[in-house]
Amino acid sequence: MPRDTLPVGGARVVTAVAPAKINLHLGVGDLRADGYHDVHTVYRAVDMWERVTVAFLHPDDHAAARERPDGGDLIVSVIGHGADKVPEDRTNLAARAVELLRTEAGIDTPIVVQVRKEVPVAGGMAGGSADAAAALLATDRLLGLRLGSAALEERAARLGSDVPFCLRGGTAIGSGRGEKLVPLLHARAEQHIVVVLARGGLSTPEVFAELDRLRADDGEGGAAHELPEAGSTDELLRALGGSDPEAIADLLVNDMEPAALSLMPALHRTLRVGHEAGALHGMVSGSGPTCLFFCATNEHALDVADEIAQAGISPLITVTRGPARGAHITEDAAGYGRLNDPSTSRDSTRTGRDTKPTRK
Ligand code: C5P
Repeated sequence: MPRDTLPVGGARVVTAVAPAKINLHLGVGDLRADGYHDVHTVYRAVDMWERVTVAFLHPDDHAAARERPDGGDLIVSVIGHGADKVPEDRTNLAARAVELLRTEAGIDTPIVVQVRKEVPVAGGMAGGSADAAAALLATDRLLGLRLGSAALEERAARLGSDVPFCLRGGTAIGSGRGEKLVPLLHARAEQHIVVVLARGGLSTPEVFAELDRLRADDGEGGAAHELPEAGSTDELLRALGGSDPEAIADLLVNDMEPAALSLMPALHRTLRVGHEAGALHGMVSGSGPTCLFFCATNEHALDVADEIAQAGISPLITVTRGPARGAHITEDAAGYGRLNDPSTSRDSTRTGRDTKPTRK
């Protein structure tokens, strides 16, 4: 975001970051009347971050902004990994978060929003939800609303089931559609995870629908699917209080995995390759198709990542760790957003990382 202008009338550029999530346990119940499924999950935030910057548009650009087909009051740009798959309009989840708070506050000054992506797009790690969480926090600061965490979480839940957790971070039990949280403050031991992106994404509603279909099939005596149902989280919660990565790895479970595998059978090979590479446990992340491989140490994770990279099955492999903190402000400075500034244009800043694992 440009900083070429002196602060006038409280002009401000605010940046917030929010983490990706994984589900250490994801139990999915029946389809509800409102189209959602009850879930019982153990969320964990990991050290992969979405960054959202918001600023008022420079007054010199207001006239030009009004000429834009979108009316020019919310100017969205998306950069970073997978940015070409994310809309740069009002349907963008970060834009919806900005719009929600701005409408409530009755402010119609044009706002510039820039999202920088690190979390896989449509990958089952709540990248879009993290965008919304970071945007809520940054906009709250930009507009001087001081809503506080409870009010922000209430708005977060309206934007998406995983958004409240991306605000909070850490490790937490999620219930309802995922938005009701109880923090697990005892779950502090560091966990090392290899994150393996798939070629292509999966739509969350489609994976939920596929799970319903597989379950209905089973019920009617059709093709028998392997549909393990995640049971109680008691043992996992106990293991999370300790520091034995193997004990934790043995208790990880994801009810959505068979549905993601059914929609993207190539993931069977990814899971096999990760298993053969010596990971303690491998599974699909949330609704997929990103796969996670849990390891004993950072060194172990780097070795597993190297071996998976050699199989050539993934466009991007990253080593990360959890738990990570929740959304927070990283920058609050004087300035304005500008139209057509090279620093906010997609092409000049897109990162093109390839299959080399990132060593942290
Ligand atoms: O809450 P969010 O907007 O992220 O959810 C996207 C879609 O995923 C929902 O419209 C619904 O189809 C599905 N979903 C679900 N049960 C949940 C969460 C999401 O069926 N607990």
